[in-house]
Amino acid sequence: MTAPPETLNDIVISLGIPQISRHIFLCADQTKPKCCPKDESITVWNHLKARLKELGLDTPTDDRPSCIFRTKANCLRVCAAGPILVVYPDGVWYRNVTVEVCDRIIEEHLLQNQVVEEYVLCTHPLPPTDEQNSPAP
Ligand code: FES
Repeated sequence: MTAPPETLNDIVISLGIPQISRHIFLCADQTKPKCCPKDESITVWNHLKARLKELGLDTPTDDRPSCIFRTKANCLRVCAAGPILVVYPDGVWYRNVTVEVCDRIIEEHLLQNQVVEEYVLCTHPLPPTDEQNSPAP
């Protein structure tokens, strides 16, 4: 069932979508758990959600008008050395994301803007789209 636009707008506002500063994707609860055992990925996912909430990073506040979104991905297609986690817009892909590594990513990358280099498998910020490159009319 499709929600009416005003309801969708309410959802957008309540989720803080216009204030997202970073979006994290974690491979977890996979249909075919290839990069790590499913239970390990679910443990990290639950920890990531709880920790972002605990730190108040998951919703915008008056003091900090931005928020961090997190999404559980069924598979990020790397399918090795998981759990795999990617942080956008930075485009930093992490491997072997245990609960301890997840905490370091939150503390060092998300809060201090210091990439946790030893767990990076690739860095590729998304390039601007053609539309963004075009001169204003
Ligand atoms: S199963 Fe985790 S990246 Fe594919």
